[in-house]
Amino acid sequence: MRKKIVAGNWKMNLDYTAGLSLFSEVLNMVNDEVRGDQEVIVCPPSLFVYSLAQLAKQNSRVSVGAQNGHQADSGAYTGEISASQIKSAGAEYVILGHSERRQYFAETNQLLAEKTNAALKNDLKPIFCIGETLDERNQNIHFQLIKTQLEEGVFHLSAEEFAKIVLAYEPVWAIGTGVTASPEQAQEIHAFIRSEIAAKYGAEVAQNTTILYGGSCNPKNAAELFSQADIDGGLIGGASLKSRDFTDIIKAFNK
Ligand code: PGA
Repeated sequence: MRKKIVAGNWKMNLDYTAGLSLFSEVLNMVNDEVRGDQEVIVCPPSLFVYSLAQLAKQNSRVSVGAQNGHQADSGAYTGEISASQIKSAGAEYVILGHSERRQYFAETNQLLAEKTNAALKNDLKPIFCIGETLDERNQNIHFQLIKTQLEEGVFHLSAEEFAKIVLAYEPVWAIGTGVTASPEQAQEIHAFIRSEIAAKYGAEVAQNTTILYGGSCNPKNAAELFSQADIDGGLIGGASLKSRDFTDIIKAFNK
């Protein structure tokens, strides 16, 4: 049985004090209210990772992730943070290939393949993001584009390595826009992703891969999205900055 996961991506929001207090609220609400076996991950700015991981130790259901990591182990890369540093600060996960990284920081599939290797080498689980722009969908090249993102970003991994990654389908046109992919649109792509994994690694690996949906997911639409056969949870941006909304999304599995 594949894991069900709700991950929050705080992006570059909140100051340190506000981040700590939001995380404490999330821990309390999850503890008090969430029943079921879904896993919860919070990905704050890297500066907060250590403190949040310390707090999370008291609550095994919630783990912490970073939002990016460098491909090298160490060295003269001013301003960057390596996978081993992220891991040593207590994180379990790292988001890789978010469309904002691809767009604003020119991250290519090739670079992301290297970052994925660095994460896995350091026992950090990648949440690997893929997804098309509106233009690519309108041109009807989205299936091919997603296939290429998979092939070039993660399909070089062995089946054993691939089993450690989480995928997130995030249509770029749905991120931060308030426009959510319909459950049918999202399910169509998730099923396609799973069939590509099956073709590459076999049916069992495909069945065990967690594929999250991301893009304007909120407490109102989460239950319907998560009830789709191939949607195993969500990667949540804006709504993860509100403890009530984030917790309600986590609880959407139980509906
Ligand atoms: P959003 O962001 O939920 O604010 O659309 C999702 C994401 O970028 O991961």
